[in-house]
This record gives sequence, structure tokens and C-alpha cells, in this order.
Amino acid sequence: MKTLQDSFVLNNGVKIPCVGFGTWQTPDGETAVAAVREALGVGYRHIDTAAAYGNEVSVGEGIRASGLARSEVFVTSKPWNTERGYDKTMAAFEKTVSDLGLDYLDLYLIHWPAAANQFENWQDINLSTWKAMTELYKAGRIRAIGVSNFLLHHLQALMESEVQPMVNQIEFHPGQMQEETLQYCKEHGILVEAWSPLGTGRMLNNETLKTIAGKYKKSVAQLCIRWCLQNGVLPLPKSVTPSRIKENAAVFDFEITAEDMSAINSMAYCGGSGLHPDKIDF
Ligand code: A2P
Repeated sequence: MKTLQDSFVLNNGVKIPCVGFGTWQTPDGETAVAAVREALGVGYRHIDTAAAYGNEVSVGEGIRASGLARSEVFVTSKPWNTERGYDKTMAAFEKTVSDLGLDYLDLYLIHWPAAANQFENWQDINLSTWKAMTELYKAGRIRAIGVSNFLLHHLQALMESEVQPMVNQIEFHPGQMQEETLQYCKEHGILVEAWSPLGTGRMLNNETLKTIAGKYKKSVAQLCIRWCLQNGVLPLPKSVTPSRIKENAAVFDFEITAEDMSAINSMAYCGGSGLHPDKIDF
């Protein structure tokens, strides 16, 4: 990867620009419009949102404000947990594309798995959501489909489906690599995307990361983003601050050595969202 416009290739051949612009916790309204326009202006070509972020209308406005053609921007969204199941997912998709002002999505992800702590028939619920996504995919309304926050057992329960997930978007940052899920995804051609690659900012004061970043004259944020890429994981850094949006894009002029990669890969847990897919209550 040499620029933001270089791509990973999904298991259905669709190209996905290698760094996505995250919008979780980006307030709706002018802040989201400006952040998305800014990101596209500095060269990002991939925007990640979700119905639950409450900012799809503004994200769509930001995309239009960039002046880029629709085909130049890769757009991801996700139906929320209240919209699981075939009919609700179908309706959620129509609302999402209408709010974004788009007529197709590049990628649509099940936001969180239905899990055993809330649903006895969790496998059936996920399969029924997946059936809707598969139909939308086959109808050409979505270019690629996948999941988010799926652990090994959630993935395994989907793998006999006609269409297998192309992406699994998980919390991924130093100290939280989810090795088992990562390994499984790599073995099955599922691209892993990193939400909160900076640990929602928690990584930025970590002494180990500061020392390593200093060697490359890079910020910890840049180190974390580059570290994702070198692990074959697609990072989705979020910022609403123009200088940081630009900084987070400058990750192609250095290479982390194998030794430093393994030092970061072996870091112990040092903070994260604390959200566990089998324990969440939302
Ligand atoms: P802000 O949006 O106010 O600029 P993550 O991508 O892991 O979820 O992290 C997002 C958080 O990290 C946000 O609070 C964001 O702040 C902050 N952030 C993003 N990029 C940088 C950066 N380069 N330097 C410092 N903080 C950053």
C-alpha cells in the first residue's frame, strides 16, 4: 500500500480503499459534513458509518460536498441491533440508503451478532439477517456484505451460507488483536477491519508505543494505523479535527520493522472499549 487510494481486494473481487474514515461518535450536522468533506479532500476514499451513529444524512452530505463521483467513494453502513431479521434488515437498508442519499452501498455489515446471552436462537436470527443482506447483494444494491464484532463461533454459524462474509469489522488496536478471530478470518478470506485503531484515543499515551513511534519520527496514531496495515488489517481511524485527519493519512512514508511489529503484536491488553460481543446488553 502506497497511498490512501490503494486497495485490499475482497473475496468477491471488489476493491476496498486501504484506510477507511471512521465516523463513530462523530456528531450529526455540520461536524460530520465537514469531517467527511475534509477527509475526502485529503485523499481518503472510504467512509465507514452505521445507522446507529445517527449521522448518515450528514455523511451523505459530506460525500456530495466533496464533489467526487459516487463511484470514487467506498461507503459502508450497518443495520442496528434492533433491526435484526429478514424484514427489518430489508427496511433498515432502505432507510440507510435514503438517509445517505445513495442508491447503493459498497459494503453493509451486521453491526453486532445476535448472541447467546440474549437469544436462545441466536444462530437463526443472524442467518435471517444474513439472508436479507445476501438478497440485497445478489440484487446489486450492495457491492459486498459482511459482519462486525463477530467472534469465531458467530462466524462459523454463517459459513455454510450461500454467500460467505467478505469483511469482519472488529475492535483492533495494540493490546487487543483478537488473534483467534483474526487467524480464522485470514484462513477464510475474510478481510478484517479495525474499529478504534487508536483504542478510541486510549493508545496515544502508551509509553511503549510512544518510544517505538519516536524511532520513526511518527505519532502514536500513525504508528497504530500503519501497524494495522502491516498486519493485513484495514484501519478505520476517526477524527473530526482537520490536522489529525491529515496526520492519520500520512502512514505510507515509513515501514515498521519486523522486530517492532512483533513488539507491538505481543503487547498486553492496555485498554479498550470493554465491549464483548457475547456480553453486550444492547
Ligand atoms: P477527534 O475526533 O476529536 O479529533 P479511534 O479511531 O481509535 O476511535 O480514535 C478516535 C479518537 O482519537 C477521537 O477522540 C479522536 O479525536 C482521536 N484522534 C484521532 N486521530 C488522532 C490523532 N492523530 N492524534 C490525537 N488524537 C486523535
